[in-house]
Amino acid sequence: MKDDNFLREMNARHLWHPMGHPGEQQANAPKIIKGAEGVRITDIDGHDPVDAVGGLWCVNLGYSNDAVKQAISDQLWQLPYYSAFAGTTNPAAIEASYAVQEFFAEDGMTRVFFTSGGSDSVDTALRMARQYHRLRNEPTRTKFLSLKKGYHGTHWGGASVNGNNRFRITYEPLLPGCFHLPSPYTYRNPYDESDPATLAEKIAAAMVDEIEFQDPSTIAAFIMEPIQGAGGVIVPDASFMKHMRDICDRYGILLISDEVICGFGRTGDWTGARHWGVQPDMMTIAKGITSGYFPVGGVLLGDKVADVFESAGPEGSIWTGYTYSAHPVGAAAVVSCLSETLRLDTKTNAAARGKQLYDGVCKLAEKYDIIGDVRGGHGLMTGIELVSDRAKKTPMDAQTMKRVHQATYEAGTMVRLGAHNVLMSPPLVISEAEVDVILASLDAGFAAA
Ligand SMILES: Cc1ncc(COP(=O)(O)O)c(C=O)c1O
Repeated sequence: MKDDNFLREMNARHLWHPMGHPGEQQANAPKIIKGAEGVRITDIDGHDPVDAVGGLWCVNLGYSNDAVKQAISDQLWQLPYYSAFAGTTNPAAIEASYAVQEFFAEDGMTRVFFTSGGSDSVDTALRMARQYHRLRNEPTRTKFLSLKKGYHGTHWGGASVNGNNRFRITYEPLLPGCFHLPSPYTYRNPYDESDPATLAEKIAAAMVDEIEFQDPSTIAAFIMEPIQGAGGVIVPDASFMKHMRDICDRYGILLISDEVICGFGRTGDWTGARHWGVQPDMMTIAKGITSGYFPVGGVLLGDKVADVFESAGPEGSIWTGYTYSAHPVGAAAVVSCLSETLRLDTKTNAAARGKQLYDGVCKLAEKYDIIGDVRGGHGLMTGIELVSDRAKKTPMDAQTMKRVHQATYEAGTMVRLGAHNVLMSPPLVISEAEVDVILASLDAGFAAA
C-alpha cells in the first residue's frame, strides 16, 4: 500500500466517483476511509466516526463480522469463480438459493435469480415482468408504474422508473412507457394532504385513474420501495402498500417490491413488504444480502410468476444475466450473511435502535427550527429534512448542508446528505450507546448550521 501522501495527492485525480462532479471532487477531495471496526470507520486523518450511513444502506452486520469474511476467504480458495450460464453451476450458489428462498418463504418468494447488485436486479425484474405477460399471451403489457421520489438504481430501466429527476434529466430520453404516481410524502405533496391514510387513498385513486387512462392491458408492473430510502426516508401509511397490492390484483399488474434497502431487517421486519403485511409478486434485493462485503443482488419470484416461466415452451428461456450471476464467492457470502443475520436477529435490534434514533431526532426538532420534517420510526432508517424557513418549508441551501455534514462528522458521526435531507441507515447491530453518539453529533452538526 502506498503512503498517505501518495493517497492524498492522487485522491480523485484518476478516479471518477459515482453521483458527484469529477472537477469538484478534485477541488474538494473525498474523505479517504482506510479501515473500519464494529460500526465505526477510520479515515486517514485520524477520525473514527460512527458510520450512520452503514456504508451505503448496506453494512447491516457492521464491519467486523468474521464469519462472513471467513466464508468469502474460504470460497476464494475452493472455487474463486465459475459461470452459471447454461450448463454449469456451483455448490455455493445452490446453497445460497436454498438459504434465500427459506429467508423469503413468508413473503411467498420461491425462486431467486442472482445478479451483481440492486440496479441489475431492478432491470432484470422489469424484463421478467414483460416476459411473464408475453408468456401469458398478453404481449401488450409493457408499461411500468412507479412512485415519484423512488430510487431504483441507475440502469436504463431503473432510471426510467426512478422518481427523482436528478437521476433522470441528464440521461433522457429514458425508457418509454414509464409513468409516475405521487409519493406518499406527507410533508410535500400535490394534494397538500398531511394525513397519511388520506394521502394513501388519494394516491390509490390517482393510480386507478392512470391505469384506466393507459388501459390496464398495457401495464406490466408497478414497482415501489416499501419505505422510500434514497428519496428521503419516506414512510407511507400502513395502508399504502395494501392499496397498491389491491389495485395491482384488480388490473392484473405485477407488484414488484424493491427491497434493496428495506430487505434483511432494516425496517424492523425481515422485509419491507412483510412490515406492511403484503406479499408482492417479485422482489429485488441486494446490499444487506452480503452486508456489502461482496457485490450480490437478486430477483425473487413467487410461484405465480415462476410457474408461468417454468411451464412455458422455449420462449420461457431467460435471455438476460451477468457474468457474476451466482458468483461462488458472492454466494458463499450470502449463505454466511443470512445465517449471521438470523443468528443475531438484527431486525429486532433495528426496531429498538431505530425507535431510539427517531425519538432522539424528534427531540432535536424541538430545539432546532431548521428541522422541517423527521421521518423514520420503522427500523433503522431515519431522514431529517432541513429548511431555512420552517413556515415556508424552504429547502436548506447546499452550503449549510455541507457545514452540518462536516460538523456532525467532526463530532463523531458520518451521515449522508441527499439534497437537503440528512439520511441515516446505520448497521443493524448498532448499540444504544452508539445511537447516543449519533444523536450528540447531530446536535453539534445542527448547532453549526
Ligand atoms: C431501493 C433501491 N433499489 C435499487 C438500488 C440500486 O442498487 P445498486 O446501487 O446496488 O445498483 C438502490 C441503491 O441504493 C436502492 O436503494
